[in-house]
Amino acid sequence: MIPFIGNVHQLKTKYELVKQLSQLAYQLKDEPLWRLWLGTMPIFVFHRGDYAEVLFSSSKNTQKSVQYNFLHPWLGTGLLTSHGEKWAKRRRLITPTFHFEILNDFLNVMNEQANILVEILAKLTTQNQEINIFERLKACALDVICESAMGQHVNAQNDETSEYVQAVARISELVTFRFFDPLQWPDFIYRRTAKGKDFERCLKILHDFSKKVIFERNSHLDDVDLMSKKRIAFLDLLLKAKRMDQSITFDDIREEVDTFVFEGHDTTAAAASWACQLISSHPEVQKKLHEEIDSVLGQSKRHLTNDDLKELTYLDLVIKETLRLFPSVPYFGRTLSEDCEVGGYKVLKGETAVILAYMIHRDVNYYPDPEKFDPERFLPENTKNRNPYAYIPFSAGRRNCVGQRFALMEEKVLLANILKRFEIKSLKTIDELEPVGDLIIHPNKGIPITLNLRC
Ligand code: HEM
Repeated sequence: MIPFIGNVHQLKTKYELVKQLSQLAYQLKDEPLWRLWLGTMPIFVFHRGDYAEVLFSSSKNTQKSVQYNFLHPWLGTGLLTSHGEKWAKRRRLITPTFHFEILNDFLNVMNEQANILVEILAKLTTQNQEINIFERLKACALDVICESAMGQHVNAQNDETSEYVQAVARISELVTFRFFDPLQWPDFIYRRTAKGKDFERCLKILHDFSKKVIFERNSHLDDVDLMSKKRIAFLDLLLKAKRMDQSITFDDIREEVDTFVFEGHDTTAAAASWACQLISSHPEVQKKLHEEIDSVLGQSKRHLTNDDLKELTYLDLVIKETLRLFPSVPYFGRTLSEDCEVGGYKVLKGETAVILAYMIHRDVNYYPDPEKFDPERFLPENTKNRNPYAYIPFSAGRRNCVGQRFALMEEKVLLANILKRFEIKSLKTIDELEPVGDLIIHPNKGIPITLNLRC
């Protein structure tokens, strides 16, 4: 440790960091936590689920760390970034919008967008093109979330030139750059830099878009009868709630819609992309999945139903194991609101804790040979004695992912549709893809694959 610099010089960057964390997970397997100095700021890193439980089970330690402030200009203090009473009120408002009957409506959106995806993939395949599946899935997931959250077709899959689509991608990238570069942290410096100005430009595009959609939807709200068969969006449910509770403002609604778009597309796309990579590099797994999907869907070209999804049990295991190795959100941070004691060490109120899901998921105490892709780890008989906090791709406790069921449904629909039509061939190993642990764990330069048409 160097005074004023801390341990920053010892931390690797980009994909080297991900490798370093895998090694640390093994070296520190018996330690309850470790401390890292970011300059003069101590960060307490929780890398074991059994010790992270103290944070997840606390009703007070739910405040996000200061690094989330870089999301405030875009997402305001919506569900992801707020805390205290404001967060609790939003959570009560939003949780019922993920009721399973409402999710059924979104299943149609997912099926439709999955069909568009496979048609695009089929066309690229007949042209013998190499496909960057991460980019294709990102566009697809953005279409799914924009239609589900706002009822808007942004057509990301077919129109890469859309101003909104480009702004979403760019702003996510800019937030990541800022997160990892302390020189960009002070607002008065950032605003004057080229990146800061670009951030403002994207912000205007995104906010103008969501505001316009909110006002349009609000003016047609009475036409949307929630009990009818008409397709609804999360936004309609929030607007309905506003009619009952005047303290909810249009800005509050915008914060939530923007939060859904941010939190609900890169995460899902990254998970589905890593799944494609892992499936294609494990032929025996791919064969089993093809058999399962064929037995559920046969030759039928119909949309997947909820019952079909329930029958795809092996796909379920594959998705779970993928999210263990590549938890889309590899770490999350908290500012402690009360002291806590962990394995004989005290972490004090006001200090920063980082929960490293990526390392927790590689704890050899629960996952022998942790880098091995083995979906059977998630068979019921193999999970029954596992500490529930040893597997946290959707976080845990009060601040867990509100979109978890939506996300798993979408993963299944996208992967089942791809696997029904194609055999996936990977062109690179995981190491060659250089997984990068930014806000989302993603491949450094995409995931190139080729596909063979099955039907
Ligand atoms: C595979 C896909 C996904 C993964 C792995 C994932 C993971 C997570 C994680 C780890 C958190 C906690 C983050 C933190 O504490 O900083 C979170 C929060 C959240 N997620 Fe997801 N997510 C996924 C998809 C989605 C989707 C599709 C939506 C919306 C439709 C969504 C909406 C949210 C929201 C609103 C929060 C904040 C919840 C709160 O603090 O009360 N997520 N997610």
